[in-house]
Amino acid sequence: MTDPLARLYADHLATLTARADLALAAAGREHLVIAAGMPAYYFLDDRPAHFVASPHFLHWLPLTCAPGSWLRYTPGQRPQLIFLQPRDYWHVVPDAPSGAWVEHFDIVTIRTPEEARAHLPDAAAHCAVIGPADTPGGLPCDNPQAVLDRLHWERAIKTPYETLLMRVASRIGARAHRAAEAAFRAGAGEFEIHLAYLAASGLSEAELPYSNIIALDHHGAVLHYTDFLRARPVAPKSFLIDAGGQYAGYASDITRTHAAAGHDDFAALIDSMETVQQDLCAGVRAGHSYPELHLEAHRRIAGVLAGHGLIRCSAEAAFDRGITRTFFPHGLGHLLGLQVHDIGGHQAGPEGGTLSKPEGHPYLRLTRTLQPGMVVTIEPGLYFIGMLLDELRATPAGADVDWARVEAFMPYGGIRIEDDVQCTAGAPLNLTREAFVAPG
Ligand code: GLY
Ligand code: MN
Repeated sequence: MTDPLARLYADHLATLTARADLALAAAGREHLVIAAGMPAYYFLDDRPAHFVASPHFLHWLPLTCAPGSWLRYTPGQRPQLIFLQPRDYWHVVPDAPSGAWVEHFDIVTIRTPEEARAHLPDAAAHCAVIGPADTPGGLPCDNPQAVLDRLHWERAIKTPYETLLMRVASRIGARAHRAAEAAFRAGAGEFEIHLAYLAASGLSEAELPYSNIIALDHHGAVLHYTDFLRARPVAPKSFLIDAGGQYAGYASDITRTHAAAGHDDFAALIDSMETVQQDLCAGVRAGHSYPELHLEAHRRIAGVLAGHGLIRCSAEAAFDRGITRTFFPHGLGHLLGLQVHDIGGHQAGPEGGTLSKPEGHPYLRLTRTLQPGMVVTIEPGLYFIGMLLDELRATPAGADVDWARVEAFMPYGGIRIEDDVQCTAGAPLNLTREAFVAPG
């Protein structure tokens, strides 16, 4: 086996089997059984939603489109894939498995979901069965918490194989971001920019890792703005785009904010936020506390507010009085991987438990200490959100704000800059910056 991807996959599988061995032993189970899942249907409708495979299944196999399939692993034995390839002329039937991973699995092909049962262990009680509760055919999914906790804890640590897939997802995202910025500069509206993004990414809308956020002007103040205004606005001032790529089930999650030509004040604010964001990316170091990095983001954003005349008090006072929480009302970021908000961000350890969020920061999605292999997003923001500004104005701290200056920035919506960064034993690896400098 000389292909580097094949070698990385073999090592990845060895890591997953070792993790599974420990998780099963901790829970007193003998077999791990994982369902890919089945498409969900809309209420009272015969129309299925786009199928998204269980992340547990995708962790083992890059099979993003194998509904009804199952994976079976017993310590000491080769893993088995029970692959559903139905006789069906209504839907696309998945191709027979191929790729570097196939040689590591015993593969049995079934034609109906019900056939899966015969290939799974007889004694369901000895299995940890992971998947959606309503998965038909195989074994009832019991999702034992002790097994889930161990697997979720470890999943934060990406293997080199996963890092490679996330690098590809980052390249796809960066390529599409470049096309979206070009469309904005050429005068396109939100919907047209979205189409330019899709075309450059080569992904259908359903294949995106999350719904694109394509926000011109004040729409940038809606954190998860997912309307696509069809009309072209006259002379837009700003463009915030939060959109990712996806490869083999792995996500990239990238945000950029652009000022239209001639809007120098806003461009300067973006530059200041970019400096802060890059300094925070440099803080993705093993042993660092992510909540501390989040609080550091608030301190630095207080400096930006002071430096741009948005507050009359010192940066220290703005931080102490909670003023930055009005302008930066979400968390610094999250774990990233098979899920955009990858699971386990608040987990205290392999046995479960919860690490609480800092007081007053309810939206922080990651409270763990950084470890080599973790991929996290670093996405500080600075927004002009009317609802939150009104609340601040009504408090004593409202007197510390230069409201005329704030009013002047309201039409721009806000700024968010987001990179995906891998913690290593040494310097952080910024997957997003690396992707943006890569050719096309
Ligand atoms: N990219 C969307 C989010 O992180 O919430
Ligand atoms: Mn994000």
